[in-house]
Amino acid sequence: MTRVIAVVSAKGGVGKSSICRGLGKALSEKGQSVLLVDTDIALRSLDALLFADETAVFDWGDILGKNCNASKALIHINSRLSLLRAPLHGQFDASLFGNMISDISKSFDITILDAGAGLEGGFNLCVAAANEALVISTADDISMRAALITAQKVRDNGIKNLRLIINRYPKRRLRRRSVDNVIDATKVRLIGVVPEDKEILLAHNGIHINGNSPAELAYNRIADRLLCKDVRLYIK
Ligand SMILES: Nc1ncnc2c1ncn2[C@@H]1O[C@H](COP(=O)(O)OP(=O)(O)O)[C@@H](O)[C@H]1O
Ligand SMILES: [Mg+2]
Repeated sequence: MTRVIAVVSAKGGVGKSSICRGLGKALSEKGQSVLLVDTDIALRSLDALLFADETAVFDWGDILGKNCNASKALIHINSRLSLLRAPLHGQFDASLFGNMISDISKSFDITILDAGAGLEGGFNLCVAAANEALVISTADDISMRAALITAQKVRDNGIKNLRLIINRYPKRRLRRRSVDNVIDATKVRLIGVVPEDKEILLAHNGIHINGNSPAELAYNRIADRLLCKDVRLYIK
């Protein structure tokens, strides 16, 4: 079975799309062929974060609508990293989407699905297509509560392999919640911690960022851990 990983949280703004971009890049640099799929209908962002070809015409809605085949809709970011953009509007059947992803993902080592906010639309598409999930939470009460509810919904959809990424983890003096607090509140096993990092904000503003920034190094460690390599969870 090829790996299809949904990156989820019902809460917007916790870093799902940034993490998809970072993990896609890190995994492809480690030799994996990676497909990123944006499922945030209307609010897609991975194309902008990855500086994808702006002249691209098709998205995965066109594959489902039989306007084009998959190869026409794939945008190649580099030789090992490809992107399927989300449509800008429309409602889609989750099982048809799941079948499409199951077909296309066979050509890649790892497929990563970027869910939008909420527990409908893009989230339903993601859980129909994925066999693993990364639940994203920042270390604040609202985001932890969203992660707890999201993780339960993911489990309800039959996905057993769930891991937690704590994002935007603050420096020690600004910390109100420890890593242990976040694990306890979300009830998901930890795979990594990404620090607060101003470089990531730059990526959201169309600026190429430093590949050695603290968050990029954390994406790299999480990519290694996804590939079952023995690396530390985080640098204290
Ligand atoms: N580790 C980080 N450090 C600082 N800012 C971050 C980090 N991760 C994400 N952000 C910022 O948080 C905002 C929301 O991120 P985004 O990835 O779009 O979240 P989501 O996809 O969950 O809505 C963006 O402005 C992004 O630059
Ligand atoms: Mg997003």
